Amino acid sequence: MALIFEKPSLRTRVTFDVGMTGMGGNVVFLDHSGTKLGERESIKDVAKNLERWVHGIVARTYKNKSVVELAEHAAIPVINGLTDLLHPCQALTDYFTIKERFGAFRNIKFAYVGDGNNTCHSLIDGGAKLGMELWIATPEGFEPNHRIVSEAEKTARDTGAQIQIVNDPVEAVRGAGIVYTDVWASMGQEAETEDRAAVFADYRVDSELMAYARPDAVFMHCLPAHRGYEVAPSVIDSPQSIVYDQAENRLHVQKAILYLLIRR
Ligand code: CP
Ligand code: NVA
Repeated sequence: MALIFEKPSLRTRVTFDVGMTGMGGNVVFLDHSGTKLGERESIKDVAKNLERWVHGIVARTYKNKSVVELAEHAAIPVINGLTDLLHPCQALTDYFTIKERFGAFRNIKFAYVGDGNNTCHSLIDGGAKLGMELWIATPEGFEPNHRIVSEAEKTARDTGAQIQIVNDPVEAVRGAGIVYTDVWASMGQEAETEDRAAVFADYRVDSELMAYARPDAVFMHCLPAHRGYEVAPSVIDSPQSIVYDQAENRLHVQKAILYLLIRR
């Protein structure tokens, strides 16, 4: 399997590599941190070459369109390993982790606090399909993509999911069984780090905010985390935190994805 990464990675890279190797395959890592996909040669030609040599592609790119274009041209499965818009492998793992922890998806309030980013989008997409009660609290202007939300709302009509987009973190977290956050500045937004830290200051998941959640609530984060920014050490390093279970489950869920997509 080819791994094409325009951005850094610990979890996605290692779990696809270890997962693929553990299942008898192997990976070729293509470091695109210097050249973006499509710059040296067209994305179509990359796809048309790789399909002759490997059985699948994992791509982590800036533009979501790059992954879509790879998939349009390659006759082999293309897995989205994170784009600026989506992080589906993460959300699959997170819902697996929730199932492992709570046994079910319904009757548990899920609160996402922070930036309406790629991870948030995939959690909305997955949560709508699973019929969850989702509360998303972001600062004004940082709400999730409206097309993703409206697609999820359509899905929710069939599944019974509830999706609430609010600006008040307390409203989202009150009575929640799951409190989730992600970085305030995603990869590619590093220059905005300090400006965002000011805008997001009230959205830090700290012990005070967690006190509004259920006493048995869990804290989740896709990692990497920035302690003191989006999450306080008193939360991420507490017994409520299940972030390393999430990280472990990336491996098991990547294996399941590979099994479904490229078993022969
Ligand atoms: N959560 C996640 O995708 O981590 P990496 O960026 O390290 O792959
Ligand atoms: N939103 C983060 C997720 C990292 C796994 C980013 O895109 O950097």
